[in-house]
Amino acid sequence: MPRSPFSPSIPLRPEATDAEATDAEATDAEATDAEERFEPLAIEAEFPPPVANIHPDQGKGWFRRLWPVVSAHRGLLTIGILAGAVALATAVAVPAVAREAIDAAGDGRRGALLASGLVLFGLALARMVFGGTFRYSLFKLAFRIDSELRALLHRHLTKLSFSFYDHTSSGDVISRANSDIRSIQILLAFAPMGILAILTFFLALALMLTIHVPLTFVALSTLPLVGVLGIRFRSIVLPLSWITQSRLAEVAAIVDENVGGSRVVKSFAAERAQIRKLARASRRVQWAAMRSVDVRARYNPLLAALPRVAMGLVLLYGGWLAIRGDVSIGTLFAFNAYVIMLQVPFHMFGFLLMQTQRGAAAAARVYQVLDTRAEIVDPPDAVVLDRVDGALEFDDVSFGYPDAAGEADREILSGFSPRIEPGEVLALVGPTGCGKSTVARLAARFYDVDDGCIRLDGVDIRTLSLACLRRHVGIVFDEAFLFSVSLRDNIAYGRPTARLEEIVEAAQAAQIHEFIDDLAEGYDSAVGERGYTLSGGQRQRVAIARALLADPGVLILDDATSAIDSEVEEAIFAGLRAGGRRSMLVISHRLSTISQADRVVFTEGGRVVAVGTHAELLAREPRYAQVLAESQATAGSR
Ligand SMILES: Nc1ncnc2c1ncn2[C@@H]1O[C@H](COP(=O)(O)OP(=O)(O)OP(=O)(O)O)[C@@H](O)[C@H]1O
Ligand SMILES: [Mg+2]
Repeated sequence: MPRSPFSPSIPLRPEATDAEATDAEATDAEATDAEERFEPLAIEAEFPPPVANIHPDQGKGWFRRLWPVVSAHRGLLTIGILAGAVALATAVAVPAVAREAIDAAGDGRRGALLASGLVLFGLALARMVFGGTFRYSLFKLAFRIDSELRALLHRHLTKLSFSFYDHTSSGDVISRANSDIRSIQILLAFAPMGILAILTFFLALALMLTIHVPLTFVALSTLPLVGVLGIRFRSIVLPLSWITQSRLAEVAAIVDENVGGSRVVKSFAAERAQIRKLARASRRVQWAAMRSVDVRARYNPLLAALPRVAMGLVLLYGGWLAIRGDVSIGTLFAFNAYVIMLQVPFHMFGFLLMQTQRGAAAAARVYQVLDTRAEIVDPPDAVVLDRVDGALEFDDVSFGYPDAAGEADREILSGFSPRIEPGEVLALVGPTGCGKSTVARLAARFYDVDDGCIRLDGVDIRTLSLACLRRHVGIVFDEAFLFSVSLRDNIAYGRPTARLEEIVEAAQAAQIHEFIDDLAEGYDSAVGERGYTLSGGQRQRVAIARALLADPGVLILDDATSAIDSEVEEAIFAGLRAGGRRSMLVISHRLSTISQADRVVFTEGGRVVAVGTHAELLAREPRYAQVLAESQATAGSR
């Protein structure tokens, strides 16, 4: 595969220092090497089926709904919680033991000093081991759930019907799959730490109270202020972070538009306008980011200074108590440590609150997709046909596209009843926007008919398995979408295991073999993004070859030869007919294409107006001649 110019040329080796990493000498080879090193060794070729699904009851809270996914990793969760509890206990015990050690030193008790010292070593070791286990298992859990949610979402997205995609922007779906799932993951990783911190707070408080009550209140004296400032700080920063997020999404959308629509942008010489649009959007991001920096710059030092004030108060009051001989120096030291231990949970609490709100909103957005029901699904006891003769029958079909709410919109087809006989080439002709492409989409069950029935070889297509239906009914669209892979892989898209000879055969039938053969890299040549390195007609021919290789019993060409000149088109049809058996529905305005058909169905206003050979319709149906003449005129003026 060709390397993208944007591939990282900075080696990602773990041992690389910053200086090394920015070294201009870093070569592509090194980068590839690094990429390989960071490629997990055992990537499974397929996503394993999801371990658990979210709870289907939409009335439950977000975490209750996520619980089946979380509890699938009960072992990891239990280890994490237990390790956390031990780590917590050791952290809180340290100042108390240190107090013993200092007092022992002050009193000259050697044995007690040695014992306390040893206990401290033990505590340090335990804290390291259990703290590490706690972090490791919780992060592992959070990242597992992250990847499982992503797999669930992706699996569900592939099942969702076209009507969902008609009303959803891709940017929206991408942000749900990326940043929303990430917000959930962050919350899952940090929430247990936050809870642990809050427990530390209460445990430390309890210990302090057992040591000296008045001194405890002095130590707590600045906390109300920390709380108030924290709340004010978050009430400004939280909305700002939402604003920044949505503005970043705006920037991403503009960049996406610039790259995807670069041909249109350039052809209208609209670069300056696009740059201005982007500059404006990034200024908006900058504003929001700066506002938040500004607030942080004011609040953070204040919040950081307050514990020191508390420490000062504890030392002053505690020192005075010590001079009077009421408390020991060790107690003073222990309180000093606890004062700091009290502040962190206070901060954590606010952070946790913020992340919880964020996580809950993100979960709601992810669940919204997961709760959307796929309308077009395999029926129970789906029928699978091995081979078909290719009789495609529309029986009194009515259809209107569902709107965003899923309600049927205005009717596009009504009482639509043509029939394609096995091996027949039927042309579908009608004015633009009359529903011809809709007929193709219905035949492959991209949407379900509202009324009536479509039958393949006499079998209602709603009783067939979707995979079977789409294998037997192939569609080539007018907009030939190619993937950014080799020509060979593009043609073999529907049958990745096809042999090269079969691919060549399909390409020959689609009249594209000679062109591909002349390329320096032949079938291995890569096509650019969406196939833009090919001409429109070449793209269409690759798309036809792709459909042919899948060998459908019914082939629907929806304006699929519009950019191919009529001689080549004739050769393609000759090739298609040579196979014999295949039925074809050809949608076109072009006389050259229509003349290839055995019969023509002329539709207007969602109904079949007339059926016959091209010559018959010309003679009998004045509207037919008129529609053809109009479309020839528009085609000519294009
Ligand atoms: N996904 C959709 N959602 C809602 N309405 C749609 C959708 N796709 C098409 N339509 C509407 O359905 C009607 C028929 O569209 P269709 O694409 O079938 O026309 P067509 O006959 O193929 O036109 P053309 O000759 O220009 O290709 C049009 O009025 C169009 O606006
Ligand atoms: Mg169309």
